[in-house]
Amino acid sequence: MTDPASADVVRRYAAAAVADTAFPVVFKTASGCRIEDLEGKTYTDFISGYGVVNTGWQRPEVLAALEQQARTACFAPPWLPTREATHLAEELLALAPPSTRVCARATGGAEANEVAVKAHFAHRGGKVLVVGRAYHGGTTRALALSDGNRFGLPPTPVPDAPRVPPAYCYRCPYGKTYPGCSLECAQAVEHAARADPAITGLLLEPVIGSGGAIVPPRAYFDAIQDICARCNLTLILDEVLTGCGRVGAFLAADAFGLRPHAVTLAKGLGGGYVPIGAALLDRELADALSRYEDVSATLAWTPLACAAALANVRVIRDERLAENARVMGGRLLAALKELFARVLPAHTGEVRGMGLLIGIELVKNQTTKEPAVQLAKRVVLRCLRAGLMVGTSWDWNTLIIMPPLTLDEATMGEALGVLETVLKRVAGASGA
Ligand SMILES: Cc1ncc(COP(=O)(O)O)c(C=O)c1O
Repeated sequence: MTDPASADVVRRYAAAAVADTAFPVVFKTASGCRIEDLEGKTYTDFISGYGVVNTGWQRPEVLAALEQQARTACFAPPWLPTREATHLAEELLALAPPSTRVCARATGGAEANEVAVKAHFAHRGGKVLVVGRAYHGGTTRALALSDGNRFGLPPTPVPDAPRVPPAYCYRCPYGKTYPGCSLECAQAVEHAARADPAITGLLLEPVIGSGGAIVPPRAYFDAIQDICARCNLTLILDEVLTGCGRVGAFLAADAFGLRPHAVTLAKGLGGGYVPIGAALLDRELADALSRYEDVSATLAWTPLACAAALANVRVIRDERLAENARVMGGRLLAALKELFARVLPAHTGEVRGMGLLIGIELVKNQTTKEPAVQLAKRVVLRCLRAGLMVGTSWDWNTLIIMPPLTLDEATMGEALGVLETVLKRVAGASGA
């Protein structure tokens, strides 16, 4: 950062706001797959504001919907129905698994998860089982459902939820190798549920996102679906990150053939244009929730938010962006596997992903698999300097690549070129 105006913003922001200022860039504007900082430098966006900007930045369709809606009504009393909320709910239910029948409102991801869990408790009570390495949001209960200790998340007075290990084949907690294993990670769900009859539900990120872009094998989901049926567990999918086309289908539930009782959405639903979230619930969960006062947030599903989210979801649907994520994601994954194996072979633990949610786990040593945190930090900061924004997992073990779903060949080629130059430089430097 050279510009005094940018330095001034960073200094004043750090003093006035509780926020992360580790990245020496002041955001100014963005368009399509490009971000521009206050100094006029541009960056290729390979992280989408952490999986938010699925349709790309400043889409004219969404801006037009926002403008038109702002002239009609931005807000409505939350107890009154609106056409915009009705249209959005109908659109989402048409795209969602048939097991979900009703939309509950939220302003973001943590709140959507809280709503789904609240509906589950209203229906059945008991406890919700969660999976290690998951992140479900920053509200008090969502933090207690997340793997807070592992990721250094703030403590909460809510007791931690019971937890089983994730389906993390690269670091299998059981020391097994898929497909030669017995899916011990799925069996752990059944063991936990049988050992504690108070466990009535399972909350799952189908692909663990900020915990490292961890994609379980399809057989894991077949087993989980069976176990939920056998043990009578409510299956709640947190698709805040995986939803809205990110993993190559509108929902990961579609891709894995799951029949969840609830699915939560946020991030890509509003696409960064508005704060919005949703919990898509089956009839029993919805009925149970509606027996109580409606405590959805006052600002959830305003007409403005609904109009923008509807326009945004229609772009995903009409431009077949989930399909583009599947096709381009496949090409990008293959290119990244080749690139990292060629340029950084000693430190590339695993390159994995689904659609346009890709993780590259860096290690100090292929045998010990000790995480190469400093190396990941260097790659992220050097990419930033070279004009490419990539992210990492919470624990900095894994580089996270999540471009907008509009990604095309030219942008991908350009970004891979920048990444190759950066990797060649860091490969020469010592210390992983
Ligand atoms: C899987 C998942 N669930 C929930 C959340 C929380 O969403 P929000 O930050 O909108 O509350 C996140 C955010 O990163 C997430 O990745």
